[in-house]
Amino acid sequence: MPQYDVAALSDIPEATPHAAQAGERTILLIRRGGDVTALTHECPHLGLPLSKGALDGDRVICAFHHACFDTATGRQMQPPGHGDLQRFDVEIRDGRVLVDLPDDAPAHVVPDHTRQKIDTRRVVLIGAGAAAEACALRLREAGFEGAVEMISPEERAPYDRTMLSKGVLARGTDPASLTTTDADGLAARDITPIKGTVAAVEPGRVTLADGTIRPYDALLVAPGGAPNRPDLPGGDLPGVHLLRSAASAAGLSAAADAAKRAVLIGGGFIGMEAALSLTKRGLDVTLIVQEDLPLSKVVGERVARAILAEHKAAGVDIRTGASVEAFTGEGHVAAVRLKDGTEIETDLVLLAIGVTPVTGDIAGLAAGEDGGVAVGPDLGVPGLDSVFVAGDCARAPTPFGPARIEHWRVARQHGIRAADAMMDHLGIARPEPAEVEPDIPFFWTALARQYRYLGHAEGWDDVLFDGDPAEGPFLARYVKDGRVMAAVTAGKDHDLARLHHQMIAAGGPVPA
Ligand SMILES: Cc1cc2nc3c(=O)[nH]c(=O)nc-3n(C[C@H](O)[C@H](O)[C@H](O)COP(=O)(O)OP(=O)(O)OC[C@H]3O[C@@H](n4cnc5c(N)ncnc54)[C@H](O)[C@@H]3O)c2cc1C
Ligand code: FES
Repeated sequence: MPQYDVAALSDIPEATPHAAQAGERTILLIRRGGDVTALTHECPHLGLPLSKGALDGDRVICAFHHACFDTATGRQMQPPGHGDLQRFDVEIRDGRVLVDLPDDAPAHVVPDHTRQKIDTRRVVLIGAGAAAEACALRLREAGFEGAVEMISPEERAPYDRTMLSKGVLARGTDPASLTTTDADGLAARDITPIKGTVAAVEPGRVTLADGTIRPYDALLVAPGGAPNRPDLPGGDLPGVHLLRSAASAAGLSAAADAAKRAVLIGGGFIGMEAALSLTKRGLDVTLIVQEDLPLSKVVGERVARAILAEHKAAGVDIRTGASVEAFTGEGHVAAVRLKDGTEIETDLVLLAIGVTPVTGDIAGLAAGEDGGVAVGPDLGVPGLDSVFVAGDCARAPTPFGPARIEHWRVARQHGIRAADAMMDHLGIARPEPAEVEPDIPFFWTALARQYRYLGHAEGWDDVLFDGDPAEGPFLARYVKDGRVMAAVTAGKDHDLARLHHQMIAAGGPVPA
């Protein structure tokens, strides 16, 4: 096996993720005194460098989307991405660090998984999105040997929905390339995809819209959100798009190819991302936003003002404090009329005014006013035996209080937690991590800069800034009752990852 001399021991900083070259390959080194650990450098999520991450004890947090790894074993502890890091043998000789690196060593080790064998029980998953996919993979990796059925109306393998408003709209990326577990991967794990729409949940069985019944021993409800369509004249004209599925993104992307102008409605993250993406695609984009300052309720006024300025500088025509009265056109949308009488001509419209949890449409689930379902810490629905709700539909306890959070990494955390709870519920022993870490919510959004958000704050008394969002890299901490509930950054990713370590250690908010 080839051995590479990768560094002098004295050149490797203590307890800091450090990149080194081993032939053609970059590896990750972590030094503790005279010991060095060598691991895969690329994060299994998007292949980005783990040397940019933050280390605390044996845990390294990827700076980009906060996947967590145990550096002692290489094991992935928190999503996103799927796969453990390779650990390479290290020898220290004469002050030099020598690493054994097999030529054909894959970067990541897919955890062992079982297949359906003798257990006759069945787990049914409603949905094939972020939460359901994570749940199905975890069930097999934890050793569940019964049937796993994944029901979804979407005719394709699980994929990364977050890229639909980014690469797909900005560059016309084929949504087919976003697959996260392909058909072979599902088959290898005996995860059975079923095309269908669940209409009702009853004890021990679900009923699909076509009348098919699927019995379950445990059920995951993770149908995500359905984009809202306002009840306005012309709202269903051809050329008025919604964005949620790969199919809807492909349709919108094809329409963008033939368009010169686009009007987008909604100042949430999807509307803001899509506006920039279509501008990069060369369209004249007008973004209609009801609020005076979009995103200010989530990130506060100062950060929101910076984001607004960045959108304007990128060429997006943002009309704030504006409301749509009607969509007009003969057989296809041709203009959007605002309540103040302004007419904006357009070739296409994207409605991005939020989503409603699909659980509200499924009979038998006690959904709250917004369609979400309140669950316990294990994602189980109180009063419904063996039923778990995850992802965008779940109002779940978090270290920051109960919340319904519509973000991808959170949905995957839910899926994993629900799988573990199902195993316990079905009385199946599973490999237990030494310590279950608190799930700290995290999300990112690709605007003019990459913004990353940690924790959860629905209100705050103060925002503490390190850096000025209008000028350059910054980290903003949202403080309530003397505790940091959340933080957002652009450009200070390492600091945010360090804060993540602190929140894990504290089990939630940390003193300001
Ligand atoms: C365009 C876009 C960009 C995004 N960008 C980001 C981002 O940058 N960062 C971030 O953190 N989050 C982002 N999100 C949010 C993130 O994708 C969601 O929070 C996450 O996918 C929710 O996971 P989920 O499993 O709850 O639902 P989903 O991933 O939506 O999966 C729901 C599944 O249920 C199926 N389904 C629906 N109804 C039924 C039914 N009745 N019966 C059976 N199956 C059903 C659907 O077809 C789908 O397979 C984005 C979302 C979109 C749409
Ligand atoms: S690249 Fe590491 S979490 Fe996304």
